[in-house]
Amino acid sequence: MVQINAEGALSFLKEAPDYEAAKKALKTLLEGTGAGNDYVGWVKLPFDFDREELARIKACAKRIHDNAEALVVIGIGGSYLGARAVIEAMLSPRFNEVAAKRPKIYFLGNGINGEDLAQVLQLVDGKSVYVNVISKSGTTLEPALAFRIFKDYIEKHFGKKEAQERIVCTTDKARGALKKLAEAEGYECFVVPDDIGGRYSVLTPVGLLPIAAAGIDVDRLMAGAAAQAEITKKDCPDCNPALKYAAVRQALYRQLDKKVEILSCPSESVRFIAEWWKQLYGESEGKQHMGIFPASCVFTADLHSMGQYIQDGERILMETFLSFDEPDIKVEVPFSEENGDGLNYVAGKEYRQVYAAAQEGVKRAHMKGGVPCMEISAPKLDEESLGALIYFFEAACGISGYMQGVNPFDQPGVEEYKKNMFALLGKK
Ligand code: PA5
Repeated sequence: MVQINAEGALSFLKEAPDYEAAKKALKTLLEGTGAGNDYVGWVKLPFDFDREELARIKACAKRIHDNAEALVVIGIGGSYLGARAVIEAMLSPRFNEVAAKRPKIYFLGNGINGEDLAQVLQLVDGKSVYVNVISKSGTTLEPALAFRIFKDYIEKHFGKKEAQERIVCTTDKARGALKKLAEAEGYECFVVPDDIGGRYSVLTPVGLLPIAAAGIDVDRLMAGAAAQAEITKKDCPDCNPALKYAAVRQALYRQLDKKVEILSCPSESVRFIAEWWKQLYGESEGKQHMGIFPASCVFTADLHSMGQYIQDGERILMETFLSFDEPDIKVEVPFSEENGDGLNYVAGKEYRQVYAAAQEGVKRAHMKGGVPCMEISAPKLDEESLGALIYFFEAACGISGYMQGVNPFDQPGVEEYKKNMFALLGKK
């Protein structure tokens, strides 16, 4: 499923990566014996999920899909990025423009921006609107604010009774303001499992409900994750790409002081895979004044803005190219008799071939400039590959975090700004 080519990084290392430490970290992760082990429910999730709940998710998603003209998905961080990543990768970032029979989907509550909210209220006005509010804690300010406004909108436009049909909550099974409110109002609820943290929760109802409501096959997504999870059990770096990725990036960090990893993506469609990846790695490893800073680029666009720095700036970078082997749609460069633009040297080639040459050219240039490069690929931009990629990145993150010596499943630093913000806003 997911493949890794680490040759372009291994050649930079003074010593081989510490595969023994990586194997030990994998064992700790699989056996659930490490720091934060009460949050490793995602490790077995692709085999061991609540099938009844998945059936209920699919039924609810179908109801939304068939009846909604607009679905407003409210959530932030781990309660937002995974769903958006899969939806954009599968349907393109222009998913609302290319929507055929799908509801238009609007993501809100992922910031504090009144204009955004007002704009979406305007866009959905007069339409059949459904809301999925997602918050594990049920108390996060950004989604709670957006939900207060949309709950009010739905009640005013459809009445309190119909709001019960149109509002769906994904939250803790017992705790938090959202759970209490959902119970009091009689909204349908889905549970964020206790043993899975936000950034590892895309394959729970957190991601699966909006993804299924967008018409994407969640069974295939889970099947892809399960296939990758099977591979991830293997105790050998050449047959387990997560083991290799974790070991090589840690070796680059420790041996060569490469402090920043750029995930270079092949298109706008996968920009949010990188956004999700940045939270996953940043929140898992950025601890005790350590950790590789996760950054991302979309190629080839960002070569024309960030390319200079990558080639020639501070030598603190490592780069990981993400690619998909087979394109969904084949586009060929046409032949021109006049050849006025001088482009006949690429005539007859598919865009994919042109991109492959660009990626290889970039990799060689960046390596020459002192940037170790890895390549991660999946067969196709489809549900199986995305499920596999999600599991691969999550597992590698757990292994890498344990190799670094931190708890990859907590996020104590995130609370700091909240204390200040709440004090400034007068929260008791
Ligand atoms: O990974 C995390 O824990 C965070 O990014 C949370 O997902 C984010 O803060 C949203 O939290 P909640 O789902 O509790 O609203």
